[in-house]
Amino acid sequence: MVPRKQTIAHWLRRWHLLQFADRLAFLRAAWQSRRENKRFLAEHPGFTPPPARLAYDAYNHVNWRRYCDVGAANARLIAEAVKEHVSGNDLQICEWGCGPARVIRHLQRIEGFGKIDLVGADYNEQTIDWCEKNIDFVRFVKNGLEPPLPLGSDCFDCVYAISVFTHLSERMHYAWIEELFRILKPSGILLFTTHGDLAAKRLLPAEKERYDSGNLVARDRIREGKKHFAAYHPPRFVVERLLKDRAVLKHCDDAASYQLEQDVWIARK
Ligand SMILES: C[S@@+](CC[C@H](N)C(=O)[O-])C[C@H]1O[C@@H](n2cnc3c(N)ncnc32)[C@H](O)[C@@H]1O
Repeated sequence: MVPRKQTIAHWLRRWHLLQFADRLAFLRAAWQSRRENKRFLAEHPGFTPPPARLAYDAYNHVNWRRYCDVGAANARLIAEAVKEHVSGNDLQICEWGCGPARVIRHLQRIEGFGKIDLVGADYNEQTIDWCEKNIDFVRFVKNGLEPPLPLGSDCFDCVYAISVFTHLSERMHYAWIEELFRILKPSGILLFTTHGDLAAKRLLPAEKERYDSGNLVARDRIREGKKHFAAYHPPRFVVERLLKDRAVLKHCDDAASYQLEQDVWIARK
C-alpha cells in the first residue's frame, strides 16, 4: 500500500505547493534538531556544520550527528570501491553533486594509497561557496544543470555521485553519464546511486506500472536537481540504457550497511 505521505506529496506537487511546504518543514526540522545539534557541537568542537538551510535542501534534515555518520558510511563505500577496483599509489577522485561536503570531507586519506587529489562539483552556487570557505583540502568547482564540468578529460581514477541521478530527468541522465565517463581516466571507475526496487515501494500505482516496465519514473513539477525532483530507476533501465555498452562491475541493491537506501552501481570506463 502507498503511504499517505506519498499521496499528500503528490497533490502538493500537482498544485505547485511542494516548495512552500518544504520551507515550513525546514523550520520544523531545525527546531526539532536544535538540542541534539547543540550537544553534538559541544562534543565535537572542531567540527564545522554547513548552514542549516543548505543541509536541509540536500538531505531533508539538519541533524549534524546524522550528517557525520551517514557521510562517513558513504565515504567507506567509496574507499572500499577504490581499493577493490583502482590500482596505483596516488589518486584523483571527483565527487559530482557533492552538496555541503557530507561525504568528501571524510576522504582525505584512504588506507593503502598515497596522495589524494579531491575535486567536488555541484550546481548549487551557495553550497560550493560554503564548501570553498570551509573544506580546505578539496578543490571545489561549480557546474550548470547540464554538462559540461569545468574539468579536463581522462583525469580521474574514480568519479562518484551519491543521490544525484535520483533528482534528474531522463534526458539529463544520458548527458551526464557521458560527461562523467569523459573526465575518467581510461581505466577509471564511476560509482553512482539510484532509486531502485527498495525505493520503488513508495511509487503510486501508475508510476509503479511504468517502473515495472523498465522505464525511468521522474516526479517533476519542481526545479530539476532539487531533492523533490525524484527519479526512480528500474535496474533494467540502468543496464540496458544508461550503462549500455559499459562494463558494469557491480550492482548492489542492499547498501544498508553504508547507510544508503539506494542501489549502488560501479562501472569501468
Ligand atoms: C541529495 S543531494 C546529495 C548530496 C551529496 N551527494 C551527498 O550524498 O551528501 C543532491 C545534490 O546534487 C546536486 N545536483 C543536482 N543536480 C545537479 C547537477 N546537474 N550538477 C551538479 N550537482 C547537482 C544538488 O545541488 C545536491 O547538492
